[in-house]
Amino acid sequence: MLNSTAAKKRIQDLIQEIQLHDYQYYILDNPLIADSEYDLLFRELLDIEKNFPDLVSQDSPSQRVGGAPLEKFASIEHRFPMLSLENAFNDQELYEFEQRLKRFLQNSTPLSYIAEPKLDGLAVELVYEEGLFVKGSTRGDGRTGEDITSNLKTIQTIPLRLHTPEPPAIIEVRGEVFIGNDDFIALNKERVDSGEPPFANPRNAAAGSLRQLDPQLTADRPLDFMVYAVSDPASTKQNTQSGLLTYLNSLGFKINPHAATCSDMKSIITHYNHLLELRPALPYEIDGMVVKVDSFLLQQRLGTKSRSPRWAIARKFPASQATTRLNSIEFQVGRTGAVTPVALLEPLRIGGVTVRRATLHNEDEIKRKDLRIGDTVLIQRAGDVIPEVIKPITDLRDGTEQIISMPRTCPVCDHTLSREQGEAATRCTNPHCPSQRMRSLIHFTSKAGLDIEGLGKKAMEQLFNEKIITDIPDIYSLKHEHLQHLDGWGEKSAANAIKAIADSKKTTLSQFIAALGIRYVGEVTSRLLETRFQTLERLMLASTDDLLAVEGIGEQVAGSLQDYFSDPAVQEMLSTLMRNGFEFSLPQQGTGILPLAGNVFLFTGTMASCSRSEAKERLKDLGGQVSSSLTKKVTHLVCGDKPGSKLKKAGEMSISILNEQQFMELLGQQHNGDQ
Ligand code: IVH
Repeated sequence: MLNSTAAKKRIQDLIQEIQLHDYQYYILDNPLIADSEYDLLFRELLDIEKNFPDLVSQDSPSQRVGGAPLEKFASIEHRFPMLSLENAFNDQELYEFEQRLKRFLQNSTPLSYIAEPKLDGLAVELVYEEGLFVKGSTRGDGRTGEDITSNLKTIQTIPLRLHTPEPPAIIEVRGEVFIGNDDFIALNKERVDSGEPPFANPRNAAAGSLRQLDPQLTADRPLDFMVYAVSDPASTKQNTQSGLLTYLNSLGFKINPHAATCSDMKSIITHYNHLLELRPALPYEIDGMVVKVDSFLLQQRLGTKSRSPRWAIARKFPASQATTRLNSIEFQVGRTGAVTPVALLEPLRIGGVTVRRATLHNEDEIKRKDLRIGDTVLIQRAGDVIPEVIKPITDLRDGTEQIISMPRTCPVCDHTLSREQGEAATRCTNPHCPSQRMRSLIHFTSKAGLDIEGLGKKAMEQLFNEKIITDIPDIYSLKHEHLQHLDGWGEKSAANAIKAIADSKKTTLSQFIAALGIRYVGEVTSRLLETRFQTLERLMLASTDDLLAVEGIGEQVAGSLQDYFSDPAVQEMLSTLMRNGFEFSLPQQGTGILPLAGNVFLFTGTMASCSRSEAKERLKDLGGQVSSSLTKKVTHLVCGDKPGSKLKKAGEMSISILNEQQFMELLGQQHNGDQ
């Protein structure tokens, strides 16, 4: 084992190396090493940090996840207010903006501008002291925002340390947190699949994700960040906004590549039209363009009005809305049997693309919007990605419109549909429904499942329709000749897929559980189950009580798991798969059994020997879980100095109470036991 000096040096080197690779991967999109090599570096860092907890530094990549859940966000006052922008809704208003600038400056100097895409996310401020990310907040009311530091740390494109040997003593950068369009679609799909309401647009998804009190939840969301300002340009050596952006990029931040410096309004308007055209092809949402006077000296002379600077203006894009006819409704049957109504529209061009369909999510949504077949409806490309039916134009009704009702039987298998109380979805409960089967199969091989290369939606549909595969085990009997004749396939793609299928048998238990597509059981729940039960056999044998004892699993999930595993057809399918040679590796390499699995800890009071977040990390390493409140699932209350009311309540609930020394011994014993 390393001594402390060597460990310190190695940790520093590893952090630097990992930071470099994070930058190459997340900011430059140009990885220099394979994922597996990266994982090795990361694991080495975690191992050393585990043995030398005192050496864990704030900018260690291991510190991106792990903050404890909060009761509420603290407030942070911005040193300089975060202003908003005035809007221009047409070209004329841009020319008027220019006139105001010239008048204010009495035409004393030529003006140069920068025109940047206006990202549609959430404004945040990040404070770096001596190069280290120390604090981050939302815009709030402009003067005071919420402290969301732990959540921001989970965003890979936010550097924990600036990439410069000479960081300014303090620099407060401002930018936009957002979710890319593809990530948004995937996130919403996951939510709908697990019975949660979808987010209306990427902006709402980003806002909802950023304002989670539990940073673990934020860490699971695909948030991204781009920088566009600093609170105080004087804190940098830059003279212009364009220079500042290049400088911020060199510090390790992503900047938007579609900004342009322009010397007059005419070229600004040309750039606006360019952005408008580019918009549908961009992988994220923009809702306009921000025009700024480039020179900081002039910005300072122009100053600010009460809420917005005089030196900038937002040229907003027109909303992508249009009307069309709702021709009919198609009812799709998803993997879990949920029947989703989809509006089939008279095709229309909107925001640069042709729209033919829009999901209506469920029956209540149709009722709430009072949609009828034959209605003229207002369509919006929500956040310009997913087409959404906003409302019917009731004034245009002529009485021929038809009320939409959910079918009584499954449109695919004719089985009676049912809707449980308190559920938004109407479901086909026939476990043999071909549509459910096909979608489960598609899920199994998709990215959310075992991610089998080549077996995407199209290929799986064809294989299913041609009855080459009807069940998951059939995937593992696929032969070269089955694949070779698929549309657009050849020798090589078939060979690659055969190899990918064989490789997919080496996976983790959590990935496998997630791939099964059990209702309410997504990636996060699968990981909880893996940690607690370790093997598929044990999970299959778990009673409802065993399942409910897992922190994060409630009645609904437990019920769904019980239903699934008690089905003889499922049992048969799983044993066939196991005979096919599936091998599950556990993510905690080498530790084998997790000694604290199944135990749920709650903390009260302060501890002298380690921070709560460190204690939590160590517990998790050993398979334990941490609760944020006193529930029936808590097995141990760890009681530090000045305990709160939890102590009394825990006593009443006969929960085991550990003092700090006992707790440290528990951790220590387990550690020794490990080695
Ligand atoms: S500059 C004082 N630049 O737009 C001006 N803002 O009302 C500070 N935004 O919520 C803003 N992209 O989050 C600026 N390239 C960009 C931007 C941008 C998006 C947002 C910002 C704020 C709103 C301004």
